[in-house]
Amino acid sequence: MRIIAISFIISFHIYGVFSLRDNQVPVYYSKNSNSSADLYEIRKGKFLPFYTVVRFKNNECTATNGLVGTCYLRSECRTKQGVAFGSCSRGLGVCCVVTRNCGGLPTSSNNTYFRSPGYPDYYNGSSTTCTISIAKNRDSATHVRLTFTDFTLAQPHPTTGQCQIDRMNVLGSEISPPVICGENTGQHMYLRFTPDNSAMQIIILANSSTTFRRRWSILVTQHEQNESRRDL
Ligand SMILES: *[C@@H]1O[C@H](CO)[C@@H](O)[C@H](O)[C@H]1NC(C)=O
Ligand SMILES: *[C@@H]1O[C@H](CO)[C@@H](O)[C@H](O)[C@H]1NC(C)=O
Ligand SMILES: *[C@@H]1O[C@H](CO)[C@@H](O)[C@H](O)[C@H]1NC(C)=O
Ligand SMILES: *[C@@H]1O[C@H](CO)[C@@H](O)[C@H](O)[C@H]1NC(C)=O
Ligand SMILES: *[C@@H]1O[C@H](CO)[C@@H](O)[C@H](O)[C@H]1NC(C)=O
Repeated sequence: MRIIAISFIISFHIYGVFSLRDNQVPVYYSKNSNSSADLYEIRKGKFLPFYTVVRFKNNECTATNGLVGTCYLRSECRTKQGVAFGSCSRGLGVCCVVTRNCGGLPTSSNNTYFRSPGYPDYYNGSSTTCTISIAKNRDSATHVRLTFTDFTLAQPHPTTGQCQIDRMNVLGSEISPPVICGENTGQHMYLRFTPDNSAMQIIILANSSTTFRRRWSILVTQHEQNESRRDL
C-alpha cells in the first residue's frame, strides 16, 4: 500500500512537471467511479493505471456571493485577477468571479463584472475616464454582450439629448454603438469584435465636476456566432 502511494506521488510529479497545461488536473479515479459530463479525460496514467489527467469545461457557475462566475483552477483564477467564491466541477475548480473597476490588463474572462469604484456605493466621479479593455477569450468568440445589471449615469441634456456630463462609449468594436448616459438598468448591448480580433475598450466618463448619485455594474459575457456549437 505504501509503495503504491509513493509511486503515485512520483508519477504525479512526472506528469505535473512535463505535461500539465492550463486547466488540466490529475485525478484519482477509483475503478467504479463514473466521469461527469463536464470532465474530459486527456490521458490515462502511464505509470500506474488508476489515475488520469482530465480537464473540465470552463462553465458558468453561481458563486457563493450570488454573482455569476466561471469554473477555473484556483491558480487560473488568480492569473485572471478573480476571486474564488466556492467550488465547482466536483471540487476540482473554484467558482471564480472577475470584477474590474477602472484600468488593468485586458480581461478575457467570460462573465467579467465592470463596476464603478467603490460599488455599490455611489461614485463621485473623476476628471479622467474609467476604462476596461476586453480581449477575446477564445478564437471562436465573435461578440460581447454587456448586461447593464445596474447603470445610472448623469442624465443627458434635457433639450439636446446629448450626454454632456457623463457618458459611456466603446472603442474598438466593429460598429460603434451610440454614446449612452442616464438610466440604463436592465438594458443590454451587443458588440462585435473586429476582424483583426483586437481588444475593445469600454470607456466611461463620470464627470466629478457634477455631483450625482451614479454607479454601474455591467456583466460582460463573450459569445460565439453559433452558440449551440460548444467546443472546448
Ligand atoms: C455515477 O452516475 C450516476 C448517474 O449520473 C450518479 O447517480 C452517481 O452518483 C455517480 N457515481 C459516482 C461515484 O460519481
Ligand atoms: C462624494 O460626494 C459626497 C457629496 O459631496 C460626499 O459627502 C462624499 O464624501 C463623497 N464621497 C467620496 C468617496 O469622496
Ligand atoms: C466636466 O464638466 C465640466 C463642467 O460641466 C466641464 O467643463 C468639463 O469639460 C467636463 N469634463 C470632461 C472631461 O468632459
Ligand atoms: C460565456 O458565457 C455565456 C453564459 O454562460 C455562454 O453562453 C457563452 O457560451 C460563453 N462564451 C464563451 C466564449 O465562453
Ligand atoms: C450552427 O449550429 C447548428 C446546430 O448545431 C448547425 O447545424 C450549423 O451548421 C451551425 N452553423 C455554423 C455556421 O456553424
